[in-house]
Amino acid sequence: MAGHFRAIKPSSSQAFPEKPQFSGFMKPCRFEGEIANLEVQGEIPECIDGTFYRVMPDPQLPPFIENDPWFNGDGNVSAFRIQSGRVHFKQRYVQTEKFIREREAQRALIGKYRNKFTDAVEFKIRSTANTNIFYFNGRLLACKEDSPPYSMNPETLETIWLETFDGQLPSCTFTAHPKLDPKTGELVCFGYEAKGDGTPDVCYYTIGADGQFLETVWLVAPVVAMIHDFAVTENYVIFPIIPQTCDLERMKAGGEHWQWNPEIPFYIGILPRRGATGADVKWFRAPNSFPGHTSNAYEDSQGNIVFDLPVTDRNVFYWWPDSQGNAPDPHTIRADLIRFVIDPKSDTLDLGKGETILKQDCEFPRIDDRVSMSEYEHCFFDLMDPSLGTDFPAIAPVMGGGHPPYNSIGHLNIKTGKFEKYFPGTRHLVQECVFIPRSKDASEGDGFVMFLVNNYETMSSEMHIVDTTQFDKAVAVILLPIRLRAGLHGNWVDGQDLSVAKSLSHRR
Ligand SMILES: [Fe+2]
Repeated sequence: MAGHFRAIKPSSSQAFPEKPQFSGFMKPCRFEGEIANLEVQGEIPECIDGTFYRVMPDPQLPPFIENDPWFNGDGNVSAFRIQSGRVHFKQRYVQTEKFIREREAQRALIGKYRNKFTDAVEFKIRSTANTNIFYFNGRLLACKEDSPPYSMNPETLETIWLETFDGQLPSCTFTAHPKLDPKTGELVCFGYEAKGDGTPDVCYYTIGADGQFLETVWLVAPVVAMIHDFAVTENYVIFPIIPQTCDLERMKAGGEHWQWNPEIPFYIGILPRRGATGADVKWFRAPNSFPGHTSNAYEDSQGNIVFDLPVTDRNVFYWWPDSQGNAPDPHTIRADLIRFVIDPKSDTLDLGKGETILKQDCEFPRIDDRVSMSEYEHCFFDLMDPSLGTDFPAIAPVMGGGHPPYNSIGHLNIKTGKFEKYFPGTRHLVQECVFIPRSKDASEGDGFVMFLVNNYETMSSEMHIVDTTQFDKAVAVILLPIRLRAGLHGNWVDGQDLSVAKSLSHRR
């Protein structure tokens, strides 16, 4: 394999490139440490007891690749421990193979996004562990979809190891969006390019609450393309394929892993969740479009699969254009919330465009996780609504860029159509939110949403907490003395679940 490496000399530059994705608020943060008792404006409700974990791509060293995308940086994990109205903050890098070797070398060694042929050295694992931080069975899983996850200690954020689940992991990849079944405690997962770069193989697997693997099914996708997020119902698994396709020969020639393909459909694979073989998958087709993160999926009373997600007809990853070099102006990309209703028994595979359930520019939908995989009512998401009054001329010089901006949080009641927004201020943008139930037995959607806010006036980060019964204002704003650049995903872990983890780790 070493013969494939191109003669790229790692740059010894100690400055980040003057590109939007490394400038202004997007300048790498690179802080590791602890801050006790963050400042709090307002009051954090006593019932909020747990930890919010989130991860951001945060390059520890300047890349040697020109115009490296913003999400190729090292995973830096933040933990906000909230109890008795107080917040303690901790942040640590995931100690990936890449991170450790680059720290030793004091320079970037990894090449282009998901192209090992452009690396300066040969890595066993190229993971940046920068996409999601997911709590399961007493450990945090720091995920990047091209590799197995790294596990971390939920209390100390120390990296434990590359997680193979005691050697049970069948695939060389693990999604960054595993789904926890709230009824069974199973973790439902998959990997794509599961036999290595450029392979069409998808591996679907489930992990019991005790960590034992239950189902493993190998299937073949109709195209080698990105399957970033997915969805699960009681009886089915749903694989939406983003029309960004991979070509191994292009990679060997030093090109990009991904290329937008406007000619292929948006495929949606449906596989029975239990007892299936790879031959049981059906690839349904919608018109070429870019599926975003999934909101939820469930089966209705007729046995149809109801599947909700934001969809846009534009290539969201505009920095990976089509074969002709065409890419949309990022300002023209907007996604509506779309519902597909799919009869899994039908042999009519063409689905049409789906039904628009909200015509607002939205992404990063989150729900009350207690109703994941079931019929649901409440959806929360990042929203871009220019009419809310964001002062773009004021913030543009310090915004940085490379990622889509969202200026508010939306709350849609899917059953009644009631739609409300939380707007944090004219010089603020929001990151992904999480939902926290008011109590274990509170009704669906009754609780709080919590999310990081980029304050471009102070050039520092804030955490806003909004009560879902009074969505127009925050009950608490937590101030950080540092700036956290755009993250990808995070999750809320209840304090009771964390105390279980503590007793587990003490027994190990
Ligand atoms: Fe994601």
